[in-house]
Amino acid sequence: MSTSREVELPTYRVTIAAGALAHIGELVTGVARAHRYAIVTDSNVGPLYAAEVRRALGEQNASVFTIPAGEAHKTRDTWSRLTDELLSAGFGRDTTVVALGGGVVGDLAGFVAATFMRGVPYVQVPTSLLAMIDASVGGKTGVDTAAGKNLVGAFHQPAAVVADTTLLSTLPADHLRAGMAEALKHGVIADADYFESASRIASTRHALDPAANAMVELVARSVAIKADIVRRDERESGVRKTLNFGHTIGHAVELCSGYTLLHGDAVAIGMVHESELAERIGVAASGTAARVRESVRVAGLPDRRPQAMSIDDVIAATRGDKKARAGRAEYALPSRIGAMAAADRGWSLPVADDDVRQVLA
Ligand SMILES: NC(=O)c1ccc[n+]([C@@H]2O[C@H](COP(=O)([O-])OP(=O)(O)OC[C@H]3O[C@@H](n4cnc5c(N)ncnc54)[C@H](O)[C@@H]3O)[C@@H](O)[C@H]2O)c1
Ligand SMILES: [Zn+2]
Repeated sequence: MSTSREVELPTYRVTIAAGALAHIGELVTGVARAHRYAIVTDSNVGPLYAAEVRRALGEQNASVFTIPAGEAHKTRDTWSRLTDELLSAGFGRDTTVVALGGGVVGDLAGFVAATFMRGVPYVQVPTSLLAMIDASVGGKTGVDTAAGKNLVGAFHQPAAVVADTTLLSTLPADHLRAGMAEALKHGVIADADYFESASRIASTRHALDPAANAMVELVARSVAIKADIVRRDERESGVRKTLNFGHTIGHAVELCSGYTLLHGDAVAIGMVHESELAERIGVAASGTAARVRESVRVAGLPDRRPQAMSIDDVIAATRGDKKARAGRAEYALPSRIGAMAAADRGWSLPVADDDVRQVLA
């Protein structure tokens, strides 16, 4: 491995390196040696990388389970099909699950690991930028239901996370762009310098070599920021709420688009409008929203609500958000680039619909 970065969480380590996949055998067996390995992947990622992972874990002991790619398959149906396949293939307690894919595979395979035989170890091998910097860290697993996303799940911490940035060379360009939104988010929440460097990298992403140190550093710094927050608050009662920046409006526009907007694109829109909201209600320094909008724009991300989308629908959707308390939407808002507001109020603030309406208009 060339440049390698490690981020330590209380119970596991995240390894980030260009070429980390070549060491997947020892990285998995070092923390979660098992009798059998179940590599869970999807129909896009599996054909590219599953054979290498299987070989590294030993062809006799490792099997590949492939789900159809896409959020539409992050369901209880897929969970039950996968667990049935594991059972009929004779997998038992002494199993380690390896989640090889984007956030969909990570959440689903993690939920399989959380529940199979009342819980077996799993290793996250994230292959999308979003999964590397966000979904694979923190131990949230689960599936979607007709009533909403991620409504059935469990907290289950991985035994390790292994992020090989060279895998991003095959990630579709729109997903690379969308992942950058979460990197910018980490900058706004916790680190102004990181915000500037993520913004620079996002603006030159077309020319970016995923094996370059810059990419390893981008992922590593984002993971470190998320890890630091998660470490302080594993079950989302306090500071972890800051990670919801951009996500109250983001989830609402994502829902109102009928999930045609990529999550990261929706979060970009959410970050712009929520920064405007923060300035409007007087918690953010002036200029914060302009800086967020500029970075979102140069990253090629959308910076406003799609004009055809009704403001009333978006507002209604913010109130249906899981994070809503007593029917009012709660917002995690910045005080400036690099710091969040309302530490003394549990890091979230209720905001009047009328203020939301003004920034969306
Ligand atoms: N658990 C958490 O804390 C957490 C946090 C954020 C998001 N999530 C979840 O993550 C999911 C979104 O993750 P995502 O954006 O990675 O979506 P995804 O898993 O659907 O991946 C995006 C697309 O890229 C493809 N792909 C992934 N890696 C590839 C590669 N290296 N080469 C080629 N194709 C590749 C996938 O097959 C898919 O088509 C959502 O379900 C979301 O709820 C979870
Ligand atoms: Zn997100």
